[in-house]
Amino acid sequence: MTRKPLPLLLATALWAATAAGASETDSIVQAWPARKPVRDAALEARVETALKGLNLRQKIGQITQPEIRAVTPDEVRDYAIGTILNGGGGWPGQDRAATPAQWRELSEKFQAAALQATPGIPLIWGTDAVHGHNNVRGATLFPHNIALGATRDADLVRDIGRATARAIRASGLHWAFAPTLAVVQDVRWGRTYESFSVDPALVKQLGQASVEGLQEGMKEGRGVLATAKHYVGDGGTRRGIDQGVTQASPAALANVHGAGYLGALDAGVLTVMTSFSSWTDSAGYVEHGKMHGNATLMTGVLKERLGFDGLIVSDWDGVGQVPGCTPEHCPAAINAGIDVVMVPFKWKAFYENTLRDVEQGRIPMARIDDAVRRILRAKFSIGMQPAVPATVEALQASELARRAVRESLVLLKHKPGLLPLKANARVLVVGAAADSLAHQSGGWSVTWQGRDTTNVDYPQGTTLLAALRQRLGAANVTFDADGSRSDPKSFDAVIAVLAETPYAEGEGDVRITENLRHSRRHPKDAEVLQRVAGRGAPVVTLLYSGRPLYVNDLANRSDAFIAAWQPGTEGAGLTDVLIAAADGKPWPGFTGRLSFPWPAGPCQFSAHEAKPWWPVGGGLSGKETQVNTKPLPEPVDPAPICPL
Ligand code: GLC
Repeated sequence: MTRKPLPLLLATALWAATAAGASETDSIVQAWPARKPVRDAALEARVETALKGLNLRQKIGQITQPEIRAVTPDEVRDYAIGTILNGGGGWPGQDRAATPAQWRELSEKFQAAALQATPGIPLIWGTDAVHGHNNVRGATLFPHNIALGATRDADLVRDIGRATARAIRASGLHWAFAPTLAVVQDVRWGRTYESFSVDPALVKQLGQASVEGLQEGMKEGRGVLATAKHYVGDGGTRRGIDQGVTQASPAALANVHGAGYLGALDAGVLTVMTSFSSWTDSAGYVEHGKMHGNATLMTGVLKERLGFDGLIVSDWDGVGQVPGCTPEHCPAAINAGIDVVMVPFKWKAFYENTLRDVEQGRIPMARIDDAVRRILRAKFSIGMQPAVPATVEALQASELARRAVRESLVLLKHKPGLLPLKANARVLVVGAAADSLAHQSGGWSVTWQGRDTTNVDYPQGTTLLAALRQRLGAANVTFDADGSRSDPKSFDAVIAVLAETPYAEGEGDVRITENLRHSRRHPKDAEVLQRVAGRGAPVVTLLYSGRPLYVNDLANRSDAFIAAWQPGTEGAGLTDVLIAAADGKPWPGFTGRLSFPWPAGPCQFSAHEAKPWWPVGGGLSGKETQVNTKPLPEPVDPAPICPL
């Protein structure tokens, strides 16, 4: 049968569409710098030999990642599972008080089972150690990344990476799902605090340092696999909606949201986690949809253009969000470039579905082999025997964390001469959060959300209240949580602690029916401050928050106002800056400077506000002799719903 030539108009249209598609793909790929992979011949040889020794079922086991609550060592053996994870709130024996030795014991059981199934190919256990080894009781919890961004101290961030890796190896694990490299564009996002900054260059610098610290000494059993996450554009979603749509040009996607990945690749990062978010090319007007199905960005850009030789891991059941997929069945995501599928609970179905996909040609064997190669490269890059004892001491780095707290505090308002308070000051402490390690640590602390915990869960922690008592003497510290039972004028100063309720991921999103006014979302905090303000003693207010917030009304009722972020377990880092040293050592003052703008209004949630209260880089040292303490404008009831 002769084929009739297409009508000219249709042929031209098809050509144009194809050419446009090709040029849009080119614009996406060419927006990123070309990099060459650095290959180690001995490692490659070892990988190839191991790969040749695996059958298809074993290969499928390597790419399947169950959660520890849903898999046993026997099943790891029977399915030749190559990697596991514990999610936030996943502990050995479901015991949040499990010791490092118990974590290690469970890891060794899984490891022995895996090596029975695939001799010479170890299992790797991943965990969200995002501000210390935060799932394990007794671990030092560092300030979250938003606070570390305010330090601008890459050496500190690298040291924190090292200390976190040490804690992870002490517990017998191998892989940290950190650092987050989001460049936040809207602070309503519930994961704002996991980001270092709105400044791509700072994210790149600190992200690189974090990976260097985490992965240092991997071969010697000290470091761990780091994870550059969430690739790409997680922090750019419209209205900060978690797992939403990021609208950006290919250039902005690369130069803003991609900046951190270039730093992580420079540091030799071996794993990347895909973002739940979607991407719309705002230049080419093309909706690319969920990142978990995006072959151009995962394979075309990350693996080919940037020469990334490690593995891409999906996020939690993330493949299920790809159109036509379920968490337990998604050949499209694997074909697009995902190498390890995090399928916490439906992993058996995933395993069987994927085996069938390969057998029936929906997933090419070459893709599976590429995925397993990448997994083996990561596995053979770390020494499996921990060089760290399984002790609580190995989980801790309190002096380092105390330094991080000191360097991260940002002073937004200060009556000259008020701080530091005298070494023998008599203080009234108000605000329940002053005695709450949950509020002091934020999300991803012992549990996923971090709010279903009590001080008992942090035996290693020091609340601000405890730190003040240690520093000033218990007799000089009165705690009155709601401020209703005390007369401020009989004290040298009031210390008021206000706080966001801890949150993680989408549960922390500020909904479009809300705004950034802290006193609207936490009215009790405003009531406490109202009870003590202007009653004969100066008020030093600390705000524990995962994001900048609109606080004009609260700052107006304070003589000093400090953005303390989420300091973590080392409350003494706070008193180091609040209180003068008894031995007369010079006061360090406040060295933290904002890595996000601070809002001047309840709807100033953008990273690019024209007139914030404080810009990026803002903050006082506390040593100024002249500062503007004029009352801030306070709309009577700022618009509860911000313009859409
Ligand atoms: C979560 C987060 C990701 C985390 C993973 C495992 O949903 O998006 O950052 O690493 O699941 O807990």
